[in-house]
Amino acid sequence: MLRLDLIDPELSGNKWFKLVHHLAAAQAGGASGLLSVGGPHSNHLHALAAAAKRHGLGSVGLLRGHAHQTATVQDLQRFGMQLHWLGYGGYRDRHRADFFDTWRDRYPNYYSVPEGGGGLAGALGCAPLVGHVQTRLAALGWTDYDGWWLAAGTGTTLAGLVIGEAQQRRRTVHGALAGPPSHGVADEVSRLLHDAGTADSGYQLIDACRGGFGRLDEPLARFLLETEAMAGVPLEPVYTAKAMMALRLSVQGGYFAAGTRLIFVHTGGLQGRRAAEAQLEELLR
Ligand SMILES: Cc1ncc(COP(=O)(O)O)c(C=O)c1O
Repeated sequence: MLRLDLIDPELSGNKWFKLVHHLAAAQAGGASGLLSVGGPHSNHLHALAAAAKRHGLGSVGLLRGHAHQTATVQDLQRFGMQLHWLGYGGYRDRHRADFFDTWRDRYPNYYSVPEGGGGLAGALGCAPLVGHVQTRLAALGWTDYDGWWLAAGTGTTLAGLVIGEAQQRRRTVHGALAGPPSHGVADEVSRLLHDAGTADSGYQLIDACRGGFGRLDEPLARFLLETEAMAGVPLEPVYTAKAMMALRLSVQGGYFAAGTRLIFVHTGGLQGRRAAEAQLEELLR
């Protein structure tokens, strides 16, 4: 397991890698802040606000729904993020071509980061993970590995690994979908690979969402707590526990030949676990 959750308490998981080129572009363009969209438990906004603060930039968060406090929102305020609640309809408009125009007028010198830190810049920031892992294989006593397994939300991190692998042995990257396949991740990954000039191959998407994005059921809650206790690795229910559970089901289903070596990427997101604590308890009572 590649423990990206341990990188940094605030900029953990895949977030630093997805943001690094966006941050560089913002700084190169002389931006005074970063602007992005997300939900009230968003790992992405959390990391973006922390990164902006650390780099002496302002930050603006355009949030889904109506104003309310969550542990994440409190952190965003502590990081100095300026919050605007868009309601649900207003948040759906984020896909419109002119959505950011109004906000650009209001925050003229701010750099907008796509939802979830995605886009080609996000994917390219994740590609060097392939090289990082290879320099550390010897410490595990491994000379090589057969593939990757990780949670996929927008598919940006997965696309980054496929781009990284395209220059190497092209080991398969398995993406465990945190949301339903109808959410368009397959198209997004194809688009990112096309934009990167990389062949649209070398990956598999697996439905791991268990009925919907953010849906938490009793078997998942039990799996999460048992795996944490057994492995000593913290997980959260939206991405990492679902990805891990889908991996176990695939192994049990004989999907991988015995002896296959996979690198599971812990993509972080543990700050978001606070929102699920009560539901975890409720499900297991
Ligand atoms: C903890 C965690 N894991 C995985 C993902 C999925 O990453 P991506 O959107 O790059 O597929 C996210 C969302 O960004 C996340 O917050």
